[in-house]
Amino acid sequence: MTVTVRQVWGMKQKGEKICMLTAYDYSTAKLVDEAGVPLILVGDSLGMVVLGYDSTIPVTMDVMIHHTKAVVRGTKNAMVVADLPFMTYHVSVEDALRNAGRFLQEAGAQAVKLEGGEEVAEKVARVVSSGIPVVGHLGYTPQSMHQLGGPRAIGKSTEAAEKLIRDARALEDAGAFSIVLELVPAPLAKLVTEKVGVPTIGIGAGKDCDGQVQVINDVLGLSSDFVPKHAKQYATLHETIRSAVTEYLTEVKEGTFPTPENSSTMDESILSGLR
Ligand code: KIV
Repeated sequence: MTVTVRQVWGMKQKGEKICMLTAYDYSTAKLVDEAGVPLILVGDSLGMVVLGYDSTIPVTMDVMIHHTKAVVRGTKNAMVVADLPFMTYHVSVEDALRNAGRFLQEAGAQAVKLEGGEEVAEKVARVVSSGIPVVGHLGYTPQSMHQLGGPRAIGKSTEAAEKLIRDARALEDAGAFSIVLELVPAPLAKLVTEKVGVPTIGIGAGKDCDGQVQVINDVLGLSSDFVPKHAKQYATLHETIRSAVTEYLTEVKEGTFPTPENSSTMDESILSGLR
C-alpha cells in the first residue's frame, strides 16, 4: 500500500521521525523502497548529481517526467514526490496545475514539491484543490541560487526569520501537506516545526524537524570530491565502484574474465560443420 498524506501527518502527531530520500532511477528507487523509506523525492538535484549540470536550473519537465516514471516503476510502498523544475510553475497558476498534473497522470507520482512561500501560495492552493498533494520548500531554495548568491543559511536575521515563519504559515494555509526546510538555522527550524501543524522535513536544518531529507548520492558517498556540510556519508560507494571497475578492467585485459562459468557452450558437431 502506498504511503498516504494522512499517514505522513500521523507520523508528526505520533512524534515518529519522517524519512525522505531522493532517487532518480528504477534500481535505486527499488532499493530505497525495499529499505522502508516512506517518502522518495525525485529531486531536481538530478540536474547536478545525475546529469552533471552545475545547478538545477537547466532541468526541464520532460527530464523530470522521464526519471519520475523510472522511480515509480521501482517503488511499491513509498510515496513518490516529484520536484516541479525551474519555470514550470512560476509564470501562472495554469502552468502550475498543468505541470503538477503531468507528474500524477503521466509519471504516476503521488505528490509534487515546489519552492517558495507566500509568493507561490495561490498556486499551491489551486494545485491542492485539484487533488494533488503538495510539499513546500523554504529556506535555501536552489532554483533561486542566482538571487540568493549560492547555498547559505537562510533566516539568521529577525526579518528573514519572520519571513520564513510567514512563508511556512502561508504554505500550510494553502494546503501544503509538508514543508522542506533547507539550510535553516536549527533553532529557527525547531520554532517553525512547533508553529506549523504540517510536518517539516529538514536538510541542513537540525534535528528538531519532523523529518529529514537527503540526496542519495551524498548518503551513499557516490562522489569523491564534494560532501556538503549537511550530509553524512553512510557508505563510500565511490571507492567500491572505482575498485570494482579497476578489477574488471584488469581482468578483461588479462583475459581472466569471462571464465567458462560466465559463458555458454554448444554442440561440437554443429561447430565443426560451421568450420
Ligand atoms: O532536489 C532535491 O533533491 C531537493 C532536496 C535537496 C530537498 O530539493
